Amino acid sequence: MKKLMIGTVMLLLAVTPYASALDADLGQIAGISRTCAGCHGTDGASPGVMIPIIGGQMAGYLSLTLEEFAADQRPGSAMLKFAKGYSQEQRRGISAYFASKTWVNSPWAAHPAAQKPELVRACAGCHGSSGEGRGNSPRLAGQAPDYLHHALLEYQRGERSAPTMGLMRAYDEAAIRQMADHYSSLK
Ligand code: HEC
Ligand code: HEC
Repeated sequence: MKKLMIGTVMLLLAVTPYASALDADLGQIAGISRTCAGCHGTDGASPGVMIPIIGGQMAGYLSLTLEEFAADQRPGSAMLKFAKGYSQEQRRGISAYFASKTWVNSPWAAHPAAQKPELVRACAGCHGSSGEGRGNSPRLAGQAPDYLHHALLEYQRGERSAPTMGLMRAYDEAAIRQMADHYSSLK
């Protein structure tokens, strides 16, 4: 019995400080997320046409791209400053936080464009057959149409350096518009 009590006390001593440190981290991350809400909306469900939805996005992608902003490997005026303002651990925490939220489709309708599904055959292997995302490949389905268009043009021009998306250099503006509209309209 005595042994058991000592064991319990030891366990409490071991667990309590850890649990409160974890709570503090969660509190801190929730606090940081309020800074993001001004632009990315409540729980990352961005209502903007040029500000991406981040709630429910793939954790691997959020984390990867926050590192890219922090290292100036991707353009994004306000985001360069925000990403650099946090430690790598905080950037990972905030990525996991937003990834755990529910994805809410963009309220913006895709531009009416003749859709050519054959154009996106090359994309499905990484982004999923319905653009749902996989690992570091972001979800595209239901993302704001003008934001997707802008993002694809950045890859096409080589302004975003990710080698995985180097294939965009082969497409013209019209094809890029159609791909952006296609993925945005998949809900
Ligand atoms: C002043 C407005 C503003 C604030 C505040 C802001 N963002 Fe952003 N964020 C943007 C814009 C605009 C973009 C799109 C940048 C681009 O590619 O041109 C963006 C892009 C992103 C992306 C890339 C998403 C994708 O699909 O590629 C992530 C991740 C992100 N923001 C996370 C955050 C986090 C986390 C915070 C809070 C710490 C935050 N943002 C605060 C405006 C903002
Ligand atoms: C080999 C895997 C792969 C293929 C094929 C691929 N992608 Fe990607 N895609 C990625 C990865 C990984 C990223 C994140 C890159 C980064 O770090 O910027 C990405 C990023 C994107 C983004 C940025 C989304 C955002 O929220 O900013 C868009 C849009 C996109 N891809 C569309 C496409 C389209 C359209 C095609 C087909 C023509 C395609 N991708 C083919 C892996 C792939």
